[in-house]
Amino acid sequence: MTAKDPASIAVDALSEDEARVELERLAREIAHHDDLYYREDAPEVSDADYDALRQRNEAIEQRFPALVRDDSPSLRVGAAPSEQFASVRHAVPMLSLSNAFSGEDVQEFVQRISRFLRLDEDEPVELTAEPKIDGLSISLRYENRRLVTAATRGDGFAGENVTANVMTIGDIPRRVSADDMPSVFEVRGEIYMTHDEFAALNAQQEAAGGKVFANPRNAAAGSLRQLDPEVTARRPLRFFAYAWGEAESLPGDTQWAVYEAFRRWGFPVNPLMELCSSAEELLAVYRRIEETRSQLGYDIDGIVYKVNRLDFQERMGFVSRSPRWAIAHKFPAEQATTVLNDIEIQVGRTGALTPVAKLEPVTVGGVVVSNATLHNEDEIARKDVRIGDTVVVQRAGDVIPRSSPSSRRSGRTGRSPSCSRPSARPAAAMRCARPIRARGASMWCAAARAGSSVRPSGWSGSSTSSHATPSTSRGWATSRFPPSTRTG
Ligand code: IVH
Repeated sequence: MTAKDPASIAVDALSEDEARVELERLAREIAHHDDLYYREDAPEVSDADYDALRQRNEAIEQRFPALVRDDSPSLRVGAAPSEQFASVRHAVPMLSLSNAFSGEDVQEFVQRISRFLRLDEDEPVELTAEPKIDGLSISLRYENRRLVTAATRGDGFAGENVTANVMTIGDIPRRVSADDMPSVFEVRGEIYMTHDEFAALNAQQEAAGGKVFANPRNAAAGSLRQLDPEVTARRPLRFFAYAWGEAESLPGDTQWAVYEAFRRWGFPVNPLMELCSSAEELLAVYRRIEETRSQLGYDIDGIVYKVNRLDFQERMGFVSRSPRWAIAHKFPAEQATTVLNDIEIQVGRTGALTPVAKLEPVTVGGVVVSNATLHNEDEIARKDVRIGDTVVVQRAGDVIPRSSPSSRRSGRTGRSPSCSRPSARPAAAMRCARPIRARGASMWCAAARAGSSVRPSGWSGSSTSSHATPSTSRGWATSRFPPSTRTG
């Protein structure tokens, strides 16, 4: 009998030896994806798949605390700064946030705060609720109200010096005229790109034979991390402030008061931020923003909740790489990768033929999907999609074929590389990527990342979930986000 691959064993069933092997594999794999995401601005797995790796790592570490490695992903954020830029040591580390995925997680978070602070059960704790911007974080150091250094997060302790590039971003003041900014103050926040500007940039890049970006986040990161600031100056980068690093003093004693100061000082602060005093109120904000998310014009991937009082934040402190006083409540993932098991042709009542992709079941946006209707057979043939290929399933109902090592497990040798095979010739493939304009930005992203695309009209009606079954009649194919099926 051959030994089972530890990667395929449930966490609860792992022996100690298997867990050790699995933690080593996960450390390597997560470091590889961090490198692609943070240093190359070119991820090869979806955020959901990446989160799943991290969650598995954390679950194994919880079961076997003695096996936590020195290089464990749970003790690290981001990736080491690229050698192409000078390195900047952060006076105050730029850490990460732990995640909540459900309403219960949020309720537990609020209860944990009360317990930690030993507050009476009925004493409300004020929290801010604000969009989690899907861009790249930046630390802006002001001395005597002048911008002196801008640094990316890097590994949280040292980042890349991108000062000259940041100086070209219109949203970021080079000089603050309000005189109540302390003499040393680091404003932190997110650099991002809007959907429209991302699409226009990609169209321009494609026409010029340049690099086409996978999504607005990668476009923002790639645009900022340019060696020539003149290139950055031509890119439509924007900024939201939401945190701070080293500060000689603070302009208030709540998170909210600091946001008000940011506004006074000329920094954009997200207009959807709200103050709440219970888990229920936080969840109501979450639902409201999730519903309008598709109309925001920029990507957000969840809602961040933060304890408002700064003295409470200080008392609560940090655990490993994240503060105890804040949490990121993630939206259900919009994309996941899976394997195309078959393509069947369905004959409709009118005799219309519809190809249906039979997929290895995968959870996307809280719904298990095993079938997806593909509406353009020519496109499938043209893109050379084959059984056994790894495809990206998009929440709006799109299935995007993507080559990956696992996509060749079937053992068939491929034809000569063409531009629809990004793994064979990534640069050429990126240039071939064709944005699909009908569907909104995240469609383009996926298509660009995949290097090729298939445009199904929506899911077929046979998802295996107990949740509402997605179908074209519910309009998922035209609106990017389905109605929420979750309480949180
Ligand atoms: S607060 C100590 N607020 O999410 C942590 N982060 O996983 C301070 N992000 O690295 C971060 N929107 O890049 C915070 N409103 C927001 C955010 C936000 C996006 C990013 C940020 C951070 C990551 C945490």
